[in-house]
Amino acid sequence: MLFPWILGSVGITVLVVNAQQSIYQQCGGIGWSGGTTCASGSSCIVINAYYSQCLPGSTSAPSSTSTSGSSTSSVSSTSTSSTSVPSSTPPANLSPEWAAAYSKAQAAVAKLSLTDKVNLGSGVGWEKGNCVGNTPPIPSISFPGLCLEDSPLGVRYADFVSAFPPAINVAATFNRTLMRERGVAMGQEFYGKGVNVALGPMMNLMRAPAAGRNWEGFGGDPFLSGEGAYETIMGIQSTGVQATAKHYINNEQEHSRTTSSSEVDDRTEHELYAIPFLRSVQANVASVMCSYNQINGSFACENDKTLNGILKGEFAFPGYVMSDWGATHSTAPAVNAGLDMTMPGDMGALGAGGNWFGQNLVDAVNSGSVSEARVTDLATRVLAAWYLVGQDSNYPTVNFDAWNLNAPVNTHVNVQADHKDLILEIDRASTILLKNAADVLPLNKPSTLAVIGNGAFNSSKGPNGYSDRSGDDGVLAMGWGSGTDSFPYLIAPIDTITSRASTEGTVVSSSSSDTDLNAATAAATKKDVALVFITADSGEGYLTVEGNEGDRNNLSAWHSGDALVSQVASVNRNTIVVVNSVGPIIMESWIDNENVTAVVWSGLPGQEAGNGIADILYGDYNPSGRLPFTIAKATTDYSAQVIYEDAPDSDILPIPYNEGIFIDYRHFDSASIAPRFEFGFGLSYTTFAYSDVTVSGSTSSSSNPPSGPGAILDSWFHDAVVNVTFTVENNGTVSGNEIPQLYITLPPSAGAAPMNLKGFDSVFLAPGQSTQVTMSLSRFDFSVWDVVSQQWIIPTGTSTISIGASSRDIRLTDTITS
Ligand SMILES: *[C@@H]1O[C@H](CO)[C@@H](O)[C@H](O)[C@H]1NC(C)=O
Ligand SMILES: *[C@@H]1O[C@H](CO)[C@@H](O)[C@H](O)[C@H]1NC(C)=O
Ligand SMILES: *[C@@H]1O[C@H](CO)[C@@H](O)[C@H](O)[C@H]1NC(C)=O
Ligand SMILES: *[C@@H]1O[C@H](CO)[C@@H](O)[C@H](O)[C@H]1NC(C)=O
Ligand SMILES: *[C@@H]1O[C@H](CO)[C@@H](O)[C@H](O)[C@H]1NC(C)=O
Ligand SMILES: *[C@@H]1O[C@H](CO)[C@@H](O)[C@H](O)[C@H]1NC(C)=O
Ligand SMILES: *[C@@H]1O[C@H](CO)[C@@H](O)[C@H](O)[C@H]1NC(C)=O
Repeated sequence: MLFPWILGSVGITVLVVNAQQSIYQQCGGIGWSGGTTCASGSSCIVINAYYSQCLPGSTSAPSSTSTSGSSTSSVSSTSTSSTSVPSSTPPANLSPEWAAAYSKAQAAVAKLSLTDKVNLGSGVGWEKGNCVGNTPPIPSISFPGLCLEDSPLGVRYADFVSAFPPAINVAATFNRTLMRERGVAMGQEFYGKGVNVALGPMMNLMRAPAAGRNWEGFGGDPFLSGEGAYETIMGIQSTGVQATAKHYINNEQEHSRTTSSSEVDDRTEHELYAIPFLRSVQANVASVMCSYNQINGSFACENDKTLNGILKGEFAFPGYVMSDWGATHSTAPAVNAGLDMTMPGDMGALGAGGNWFGQNLVDAVNSGSVSEARVTDLATRVLAAWYLVGQDSNYPTVNFDAWNLNAPVNTHVNVQADHKDLILEIDRASTILLKNAADVLPLNKPSTLAVIGNGAFNSSKGPNGYSDRSGDDGVLAMGWGSGTDSFPYLIAPIDTITSRASTEGTVVSSSSSDTDLNAATAAATKKDVALVFITADSGEGYLTVEGNEGDRNNLSAWHSGDALVSQVASVNRNTIVVVNSVGPIIMESWIDNENVTAVVWSGLPGQEAGNGIADILYGDYNPSGRLPFTIAKATTDYSAQVIYEDAPDSDILPIPYNEGIFIDYRHFDSASIAPRFEFGFGLSYTTFAYSDVTVSGSTSSSSNPPSGPGAILDSWFHDAVVNVTFTVENNGTVSGNEIPQLYITLPPSAGAAPMNLKGFDSVFLAPGQSTQVTMSLSRFDFSVWDVVSQQWIIPTGTSTISIGASSRDIRLTDTITS
């Protein structure tokens, strides 16, 4: 196969200034006129024809032109010499889809002026187009410009769209089919509205349990988050819409998000926070959004190591990096560090005008502070992503205006199709049964039933009554901020429960207040069952809700929810708690109360909320959701917390990730802290038995692991080399899905967490039915990042493979030696 950049680069001769480039800096490429010698310990590696970079390691240094061979940097910056750009090899493991898209993009970019190329990456400015982000058209190549639109759960600022369950609930299904189908359905809605680029999925990890945007992501485990990201992107992009992996990287709290620096060690970065982005690259994601924060003192959108080093170097990401809205802080430093597109275009605050790209980037090229090759590279990346998903042929034009639903352009296209069915299916599959003493659930035709708590009712202002959903009023079905869209409708539990009750002759009493304990007492007294709905909300930091600036101020239920539960339980022996929450809550004050007979975690279910919870309570659906995070007994049991204080004197606030790789269950396991409910936990109305585990295959190989840019995408790492097979039987009385989970314990020399999720499935079984489940493991599943050699290595020794129904309910184990 011929790769266009090979043809494009052979025999090109350029004038080279002999200055030594530090690690992760550019060291070559068409049009590059900077140094081609790398600092000691690194070597110049070709990423593509336009871009070579100094990467750690001294293997094969094709472009070393050092005149002295010395590792000092005393080479005169004025001495010049003539050299050939090293003959290119394609970046390892570029997918055929990207290769084809690059051919088209390179042909188109060759026709463009410098200004056109710059414009491909220049947002037009806040509210200067129909979408939250827009790029200008380039008529000479029939490029219409791009419409970029929030959010990770549906089309924001549009009408006749669906409000899907957020990623945190999708993660709780542990079901790849549902993850993929939701991606497809959301993609269809973005496509129908004419959106080119959907701003999701979001994949920051739940490091600090109170962090405001946790619910937009897939929880506290990198493997589960990676699978969620992969399936979502595959689904979205199958419809012709570009997906955006965000927020890259280490954007794990809202307080000080633009004025903080996340201090993350190299191993933790690779093994935790970068993993969902690696999976995104494996899904051919079109774009990656760099985040607001700094990493080690350098803004994420001008961080050479994370952008050029890890993302474009190690992961060989061929698409484009766009800034979060307002997260660009410079022209040349950002572009040279790997930023390809600035959004929404303004310098400084949204709407401030100006542009870090546009004419400023043209000037930077003309003055030599950015090479034209780098601009050609960014233009190629943006256009290649457009070709990648086929947006060059018959793509719908934008038919709404995010800023004015009554604008003439809005033709009110109804894109909801039958997506409500999938939304309901995800609701049911994501509901987690945490407690079910004496099998009080499902409900068995109670004569009387109380429904208590504001979270069971309609919002006093209607489903979209608060700006960007910034109110905890009524049934809580998503958090707040830019990661939202408008509900087409929102079904309250009180309505579905009342209607079910009437078919069974159940008399329903209710109280819609969280704080009126007298009303709650009156409703609950002498009733067969009392359902208490409690909530906890969070969102993005530009909106403050009840004193919470994005991040939650505490991990308690809101509006004195604990007091409400305790009061109801004091008068009702069959109190069932339903929780709608953005993340873990501390429930110690009532979880062991003998009158709290059941707890159902409904999370954030989206528009079908009331239907989903009723199906679970009445047993129309057997719950199979599992916790995608740990519920602790105390806030301080978690290894990381939101830092609420600003840095003094408007300095940058350091956020040390001192816990390293030990977040969520990895911390509870390694520090031997008993959680209230562990990661992966969830009950069922039936029971499952596990038996007969066999492990076949081996991680050994006759070939050495590949190295260099893109090596981590190689099949050497990802081929299924070990199969783990076991039997799951439904030995109870009703049908249902079981969620078998596979955890690896590496040899002690690895210094890894005790348990690491590396496999899961969702298997449906009728009573008495059994099935054989196979989970495949790759060499990558056994690998850790070695900071000294800067490579993924497989630790030598014996690893334990644990199969179970949660991270602490292990039913089968076996070992394998590497
Ligand atoms: C941040 O600093 C830590 C500690 O020196 C280092 O291990 C890590 O690689 C650095 N990360 C970035 C993105 O610079
Ligand atoms: C909640 O709102 C819906 C839609 O407006 C309405 O049909 C329903 O009756 C309301 N429920 C209650 C209990 O007011
Ligand atoms: C926790 O925060 C919520 C939301 O602001 C508030 O309603 C609740 O009273 C707080 N709980 C405690 C124990 O401080
Ligand atoms: C449980 O409910 C009964 C009946 O209302 C009540 O007498 C008892 O005190 C309750 N127990 C607790 C722990 O609240
Ligand atoms: C089902 O299997 C589980 C796990 O082996 C076991 O504890 C339980 O007793 C079994 N139930 C029945 C009804 O056999
Ligand atoms: C694992 O299972 C797959 C599918 O059945 C099979 O193709 C592969 O050869 C197996 N690999 C090993 C190492 O057993
Ligand atoms: C996922 O969920 C669907 C719908 O509930 C179910 O049919 C299927 O068995 C589950 N598992 C997988 C792997 O798709």
